[in-house]
Order: sequence, then C-alpha cells, then structure tokens
Amino acid sequence: MVVPKIAQAWDTEQYQSKHSYVWEFGSQLIDLLAIKPGETVIDLGCGTGELTKKIQDLGANIIGIDSDAQMVSKATSQFPQIKFKVDDASSFSVKKPVDKVFSNAALHWVPQAEEAVKRISEALKVGGVFVAEFGGKDNVASIVEYLENMRGKEQNPWFFPSISEYASLLESNGFELEFASLYKRPTALKGKEGLRNWILMFGQSFLVGMSSDQIEQLLRRAEKDLRASLYKNNQWIADYRRIRVLAVKKPIDSSSKK
Ligand code: BEZ
Repeated sequence: MVVPKIAQAWDTEQYQSKHSYVWEFGSQLIDLLAIKPGETVIDLGCGTGELTKKIQDLGANIIGIDSDAQMVSKATSQFPQIKFKVDDASSFSVKKPVDKVFSNAALHWVPQAEEAVKRISEALKVGGVFVAEFGGKDNVASIVEYLENMRGKEQNPWFFPSISEYASLLESNGFELEFASLYKRPTALKGKEGLRNWILMFGQSFLVGMSSDQIEQLLRRAEKDLRASLYKNNQWIADYRRIRVLAVKKPIDSSSKK
C-alpha cells in the first residue's frame, strides 16, 4: 500500500522558539530509560536533538533518527558530536540491535503504527527496552474536533491510541508491557498567539489548499470558538493527553514455532 505523505513541513526556528515545551516535558521521560553508561540507544523522532544530547550526557552511545531532513540538519549543527540520520519510524533499520529505543512526542505522527512497532522490536536486543510517550486517545480533542469539523476527518494526520489498543500492538509484536499510563497534561501555549501558532506549526495538513486569507479566517474562528474551553488566565492551554509506555522485548517463544 502506498501511504499518502502528510503535508507537514518543520520550521526549526519556530519549533525551538515557540514550542520548546515538546522536549522540556520529555526530560522526565528520560528517567524511565534508566541509562547505564555504555548502553546503545536510538532516539526515534529526535527532532532538534535536545533530548538526544541529554541521554548522551548520561553515558549512552546514542543515534538520533528523524524523518525530517530540516530537523536532522538542525540537530547535527547543534550537537555535532552525536550521529543523527534521516529515516522513518515505520521503515528504519539498524545494523546491530541496540539496548534501548526512546521516543518522545513523535509516534503520533506515524499512522502506520504497527510497522513502527515491528521496526522498533527488530532494532532491539532481546531484553531491550522501549520507552515512549506521545499523544493518546482524545489528545488535544477540542482542537482536533474544530479542525476536523472545518476541514474533514481525512485531513487528520495523527494517531492517538488508547492504552488497550497500543498494548495489543506491542504484545502482538514481541513485547511485554511493563508500564502504561494515559494522563492529562494541560499544556500552556506560549503567548496570546499560542493557539494560532500551534495550528500553523502542527496542523498544516488541515490547511492544505487554502489561501492565506482563508487560513487567517480559520485561525480567527478557532480563537473565537475555542476561547471558552481553552483560554484561561490570559493563556491558551491545550488539552493534551499523553500515553506513556515502557515495554521489554521478549525472547522468541520457540514453542510457538512448532
Ligand atoms: C503532542 O505532542 O501530543 C502533539 C503535538 C502536535 C500535534 C499533535 C499532538
């Protein structure tokens, strides 16, 4: 099957100046990795590399992978001592299996979720650990509902699974789930223009084919319609819901092959 390309271009300057919470929140996730010096790690969907660097600072041998060439170029220029490469979560492979795969705020961009889980499993040693956090069921539901109503469900680029849906994917692809949680994480969007900047940064596939006047109208209407639910104490607060998982790659069950 040919998977349609989602229209999403990453402006790394905007990403870093207005959306730095993406990796600032991700710092806590690193604790779950429990890095031991010398371990080999992949940071899948590494963006501009800030968390990749933190994991390296803990003593890991890390490679950052991202499907966007602009992100990889920015990451490489910021952290030239780290290896970064352009590759896709649903099709990447590594020469030698690694100890751990880490992924923050990336896998909701990969609707081919089962392919990604298979690639992650193949990239890990037996006993290797997968730690990830991304948007879960009903993530940014008010914004999604608004954009889908305005532009159609088929424009939605995101995969926001429930715990049970993601647990089944992991368990049917050789993982044992040790920890899973779906939690609400209301997220302050920077400045009075926070909502429009969020839509312009992350919701580009909903804006395809629109003129700049039409986009401006859509943004103004979003600010009007979503104000009652998302604007509090002079700030836009997006209704994030995160899924966080820790899973371990199981040995192949030789009895199931008989
Ligand atoms: C998230 O981090 O949950 C997210 C970011 C951008 C678009 C959708 C979800």
